[in-house]
This record gives sequence, structure tokens and C-alpha cells, in this order.
Amino acid sequence: MDGAAFDYLLTTPGQALLGEAEAAYAETGADALAAARRLRAGSHDPAHVAAALTQVRLRRKAVDKLGEAAARMYFTPVGLEQATAGLVAEHRAARIAAAGHHRLLDLGCGIGADLVAAASVGITVHAVERDPVTAAVARANLAALGLTGTVSVGEASEQNSSAYDIVFADPARRDARGRTFDPATYSPPWSFVEDLLTETAVVKVAPGIPHTLVPAQVEAEWVSLSGRLREAALWSGADQGVQRRATVIDGSGATASVTDADDPGDASVADVGHFVYEPDDAVIRAHLVTAVAADVQGWLLDPHLAYVSSDLHRPSRLARAYAVRDVLPFKEKQLRAALRARGIGPLTIKKRGVQVTPEALRRRLGLRGSTPATIIITRTPTSAAVLLVEPLA
Ligand SMILES: C[S@@+](CC[C@H](N)C(=O)[O-])C[C@H]1O[C@@H](n2cnc3c(N)ncnc32)[C@H](O)[C@@H]1O
Repeated sequence: MDGAAFDYLLTTPGQALLGEAEAAYAETGADALAAARRLRAGSHDPAHVAAALTQVRLRRKAVDKLGEAAARMYFTPVGLEQATAGLVAEHRAARIAAAGHHRLLDLGCGIGADLVAAASVGITVHAVERDPVTAAVARANLAALGLTGTVSVGEASEQNSSAYDIVFADPARRDARGRTFDPATYSPPWSFVEDLLTETAVVKVAPGIPHTLVPAQVEAEWVSLSGRLREAALWSGADQGVQRRATVIDGSGATASVTDADDPGDASVADVGHFVYEPDDAVIRAHLVTAVAADVQGWLLDPHLAYVSSDLHRPSRLARAYAVRDVLPFKEKQLRAALRARGIGPLTIKKRGVQVTPEALRRRLGLRGSTPATIIITRTPTSAAVLLVEPLA
């Protein structure tokens, strides 16, 4: 993005152009080319028109990720891609505030999604960002949301953190897919992260981080949003006696957490009860399936698989609950007959620990009924089995 054109957007005529661009984009049915033609027919500089329309387009895209406030914010395409989802950033900011931290230094703030979340809960923030345009965008975001805070252009490794209670870093990763964990892709580098974690810090990392890379005395928190594992955050400096935490956030922002303090460490293994629970991926990555089993007074169907069973239905955000309607043998002929006899058609297939490709099995079963159903194929202490289940709210 052109830095001078972005700066222009923040001026009074630039804000007017942005307003015109919003209107032109809406009136042309989100046709950026037609909107650009209409705006250029006025006396506007084409670079300014392009910058304004980029913001309009990115704002619309950002609302899903960052909520309604995104309609007033500014973005770069990469900055939006890298930004922490709003509800995750809010959860983190709330934790930081609840831990009593008042002054936060954000090293590598990007467009500032985490930064504005921290400022929004009353934390005094200062950020450093090495890309000047991105830094200008983060600064503009604080101002656009009426928040106080400062952003300077600089290198994370050259900052003095002594004036702050806590340092936050969300290193950029060259492999932006995020699930894999390769310390060599981190910027600032992984060695810098390790140094930060000897002080009071929070560092956002890829959720694929191996447990062995989490330093001693540091809490690793795996976070999922709307059923999708998003990130891990490493928390150092707060001696809470917790090493592993899973936090599950739903689309409304409601949050549930479980930690190793809730975890008996193992669970009994037994046959299928009245209910089966499928723990959220954050719970699985945090190795806290046995904590969920304890919470629902349940047991595992197999010591190595993340299915919990119980005779108790306890609704929980940490695991999806299913009522078990029937247990069928994992034998295709018998399964087909049983499902056809029930008039089943559309079939959701979940499986763990068994060799089966759901799409291929669905095709081979050739069900033509109209009743939708869900099956879970899993190992149990006695044999592999197919559980005919009903998802519970
Ligand atoms: C993943 S983004 C941060 C996203 C941010 N947490 C958010 O939610 O919007 C990482 C940022 O760190 C910046 N960065 C990378 N290495 C840096 C360094 N050594 N010093 C300062 N900033 C750096 C990148 O330019 C990038 O904007």
C-alpha cells in the first residue's frame, strides 16, 4: 500500500473521499472498477481513489474477523490476513487486564487488532512495528476507535521493556498457514521469543507448537473460535501453577476454559454409555481430554482416542455432546441394512482410530432415505463400532 496515499486518507479531504468511496462501492453493487470510474470522474488523484477503495473493500472483508468496529478501521491486505480475530484478541486482553497489568508493549503490532483490544479494556499501550505503513495503519486504528496509545516504527529487538508490566508479541510467520510450527519462520525470531518468555510476556504462536518447545513455568493456552483451532498463546511471568489451558470461544464471545489443574491425568476406559463427547480441538491439542472426561463423569472409549463417553449429559462448550441411539457393528453389510431400515439418507460420518474414508464409505452405502443421521466410527474396548448418534445442543 502507498504510504503517502494512506496518509492522505486521514486528512479532512481524504475522509471525504473515503465517504464517497463507501457510497460508490455500495451503489455499484461492490463493483470496485465501476466505483473507481465514478470517483475518478471527479477531481480525485487516482492513487487516492485506489487507496480509498482498498480500505472500503478491506473494511467489508474485516467485519467477519474483527466485528462491526472494522467498518471504521484501516487495513493493509497482509495486515488483515495476519490480524488476530477480534473475539480472540478480546479474550486475551481481558486476561491481561484481569492479571492486573496496566502498561503493555506490543512488539510487532501489525495493523493493531491485539493492540486495540488491549487499549479497549483500559490498558495503556505502546507498540512498535517495523513496517512504516503498517505502523501508520495501527496508529490510525487507535484514533479511529477513540483509543489512546502510541505506535512507533522500529525493530522489536531494540526496545527497552522496563517501563511496561507486560510485553506482547505476535511474530509474523513466513508460513502463514499457521497450523504447522516452524520456529525458523518466525519474525522476530524464535530466540527473541524465548528471551521474552523469561520476563512477563504473552506470545502468540502457531497452534501446532510441540509441547516440548514450551519453556518450563510458561503456560501454553490453545484457543479455538467457533469450533476452529486458531492459535496458541504462551504466558510467562504469572506464577499461576498452570501449564496447559484450552480456551473455547463461541461466535457470541462466550468463553470456556479448562486447565491441567482440572485434569486428573488419566481416565478409565470402558464401553459406550448413553452419551459421547467430542472434545474441541483446543482441548485435544492441550492434552486435556481427560479433564473433559472428569468434568462429565465420563471415561474414554480408547486410551489413545479423543472420544469421551458418559451416562451423564452435561452441556459444555469444551466438547460437543451426542446422545447414543444405537451401537452397530463396524461391518459394512450390516451397517447398510441397519441404516436403510431406518430410512436414513444424508449421513454425517465422524471417525477416529479406524481406517475408513468417509466419502468412500458414504458412496458404498448408497443410502437413499430422507432421514439425516450422524454416525461416529471408533474403536471401543471390545471392537471397532459404529455409534448412531444425535447431536445435542
Ligand atoms: C502477525 S503480525 C501482528 C498482528 C497483530 N497481532 C494483529 O492482531 O493485528 C506481525 C507483525 O510484526 C512485524 N514484525 C516482524 N518482525 C519484526 C521485528 N523484528 N520488529 C518489529 N516488527 C516486526 C511485521 O511487520 C508484522 O506486521
